[in-house]
Amino acid sequence: MIIAANFKTNLTRLETKEYLIHLEKFVSDNNVRQEVFVFPTATSLDNHSGKVNIGVQNAYPTKNGAFTGEIGTDQLDEFNIKTVLIGHSERRHVLKESQEFIISKYNFYKALGYKIIYCIGEPLDVRESGEAKMMDYLASQMVGIDMDYENLIVAYEPVWAIGTGLTPTNEDIVKVHTALRLTCKAPLLYGGSVKVDNVKEILPLENVDGVLVGSGALNVNDFCSMINDADNIK
Ligand code: PGA
Repeated sequence: MIIAANFKTNLTRLETKEYLIHLEKFVSDNNVRQEVFVFPTATSLDNHSGKVNIGVQNAYPTKNGAFTGEIGTDQLDEFNIKTVLIGHSERRHVLKESQEFIISKYNFYKALGYKIIYCIGEPLDVRESGEAKMMDYLASQMVGIDMDYENLIVAYEPVWAIGTGLTPTNEDIVKVHTALRLTCKAPLLYGGSVKVDNVKEILPLENVDGVLVGSGALNVNDFCSMINDADNIK
């Protein structure tokens, strides 16, 4: 399974370093079988060796250039980073990234062979407008995206579940993931208020291949406990 932590705008460089030392030790001491990813802030990127994959939460579709506040592949190459999150709900809704821009980012990083965790998810009003409209909305977030890309991982994260403590029912997660499975073969992660208390229920669900965890992963012991739960699933 894939167990991923998205730090968002949390933890300093030093805190991230300590977190990763602890996490690497846990992963090797316990012979963890899961694929573990961490997405720290851009300022916490550093040389890293070990079993944990480090990715970036965002990068501009460029090698370098005049893009104030952004980073490109020159900065990623410095630390041998080959994994990027694209289409996260906060990039779409808070930072106002359009589907067109997301497509250009996706194509840029796909052409370079990066592992892409591509996020989709519906806002509350869309979910409340019924299943057909919700699935149409999710489909619209996949327009222009090569869903057959070999290095793709998809994360389904309902916007209303992110950082709210709310989650869809297990049946609803299975319903969406099963529908997504028909359109793509990539591993499917669930994200949105995954915590130590609910991860054991979510991970074994049909067509769930892992989780993308935000606030619930900020404490390294909690994240390790989730990884351990995944390791204990038959
Ligand atoms: P959350 O965030 O776990 O804090 O809800 C998940 C995410 O945005 O990836």
